[in-house]
Amino acid sequence: MINHQILVVGGGLAGMRAAIEACQATGKGGQRLDVALLSRVHPLRSHSGAAQGGANASFGNAEAGKDDNWEKHAFDTVKGSDYLGDQDSIEVMAKEAVPRIVELEHWGCPFSRTPEGKIAQRPFGGAGYPRTCYSADKTGHVMLHTLYEQVTKRRIKVYSEWMALALVRSAGVCVGLVAMEMLSGKLEAFRADAVIFATGGAGRLYQKTTNAIINTGYGMALAYWAGVPLKDMEFIQFHPTTLYGTNILISEAARGEGGYLYNAKGERFLKDYAPSLMELAPRDIVARSEQIEIEQGRGYENAYVLLDLRHLGREKIEERLPGIRDLAISYAGVDPVEQPIPVQPGQHYTMGGIACNTWGESELPGFFAAGESACVSIHGANRLGGNSLLETVVFGKLAGERAAQFVQSKENSRKGEQDIQSALAGAQSKIEGLLKADGTEDFPTIRKEMEVTMTEQVGIFRERSPMEKALKIIRDLKERYRRGCLRYHGRSFNQDLMRALELEGMLDVAEIVAMGAVAREESRGSHYRLDFKARDDEKWLKHTLARFTPEGPRLEYSPVTITNYPPVERKY
Ligand code: FUM
Repeated sequence: MINHQILVVGGGLAGMRAAIEACQATGKGGQRLDVALLSRVHPLRSHSGAAQGGANASFGNAEAGKDDNWEKHAFDTVKGSDYLGDQDSIEVMAKEAVPRIVELEHWGCPFSRTPEGKIAQRPFGGAGYPRTCYSADKTGHVMLHTLYEQVTKRRIKVYSEWMALALVRSAGVCVGLVAMEMLSGKLEAFRADAVIFATGGAGRLYQKTTNAIINTGYGMALAYWAGVPLKDMEFIQFHPTTLYGTNILISEAARGEGGYLYNAKGERFLKDYAPSLMELAPRDIVARSEQIEIEQGRGYENAYVLLDLRHLGREKIEERLPGIRDLAISYAGVDPVEQPIPVQPGQHYTMGGIACNTWGESELPGFFAAGESACVSIHGANRLGGNSLLETVVFGKLAGERAAQFVQSKENSRKGEQDIQSALAGAQSKIEGLLKADGTEDFPTIRKEMEVTMTEQVGIFRERSPMEKALKIIRDLKERYRRGCLRYHGRSFNQDLMRALELEGMLDVAEIVAMGAVAREESRGSHYRLDFKARDDEKWLKHTLARFTPEGPRLEYSPVTITNYPPVERKY
């Protein structure tokens, strides 16, 4: 059995920031806490690196943003969330934004600069001021490298290319984890006094997504199976500009820098949906507007609209948007300097996640969550662009700090070893079972059917009857999963096996998304019901909690925290 005081699972920004914070704390004897980080991919391959446009912080560095402050950031976030975000946590995020970005800067993060040398800021959707700090259109990438340097400097032990398979609880507390070393296929038991999950979102439940292949929501499923509820999972964000054909992200920065969206009639159609903010309306509104244009025959090939950057000029595109220019050339054969980019809405972010508070504490003592896998909740029903990179460093730090305090307050009693050993044996026999199975069902086929079902029936526009059909399909797929068999039976880097394991979690998470969406009879943020078009605060100003039971998820509800911003109609 491998022992660490704190084990962080997930090598992206939130996980690394948590590990950095936790390892600065000291134990009873004055020695640094023993913190390790376990990640499905090398940390520098984490999906955080795909985030492009920037991180919000109310510096007021841009000429047009001088009056900005944390309260305005908090208000924009609350309004963007369609009043479902917990306002106490949102206020913490908005206040902590500036120090966390300055910290990154001091660690060498190469942000773009204003002519006076300050961190440059660009406008983003739903924000009243240019507040998004950026590094061209590769902000996630540079933040990831900056934090990895800090992890390396602190000699934090990294288990790279290890897959977590089970979260272990014993006598009502979290005591560790079972994980597989992907190189050898060997399973290991880890004992830890605290475990922090920063395992990313669940975008791969959908067919059209900006998310990497690793974003399966498996961490969420592991927490759920260990008895920790998932919160607000019905709220799925669709990004308005994903590249037609591959759904690679084309950053909101393109519209922040002044890009226009056109339908096939040559109209900037946002004038009919969000006349004051136009292309810089929040994502839920822009994505819905695009989808309406496409469905009503004003798109191209019934599938996409055009994002036009030509008027920005070559120099600005090369300086501020070099990454998306490369992507458009490589994956759509279109140079945005000369031609508009074909774009369509695609799944981008999971607003829900592992239910936890501002400090990442879940209801299972010793188990914490941060980043996209967590639901704090700051994004509520719709996340504003630029708050995702921000949340990783704000709430990663807080989760690391709180986990360290939790460990400091305990004697390392080595409790739970027996339960960890039985979890190891359980995981071992599950894998042996999968390797030996000779069923008739094909896992990739099941996965494809789930992705198509979620995209077509639990997508941007939702309605009871199609969603109930989707739920039935997902439950049938869960049955078929039991008769699945692998195509490859080796041990080393068996992607077929890992994807089959993840699929079990994905089907459960998909069921939770669909159940929450069927139950929520209102429209709020990204959750738009054609049969309940209005927001209904009287009945639905509440969080959804999905709890594991052997018969399937059980839905419960919890109140939203309101501090300074009473809910009003959301208009742009
Ligand atoms: O469009 C983007 O650059 C994405 C940013 C975000 O999701 O926050």
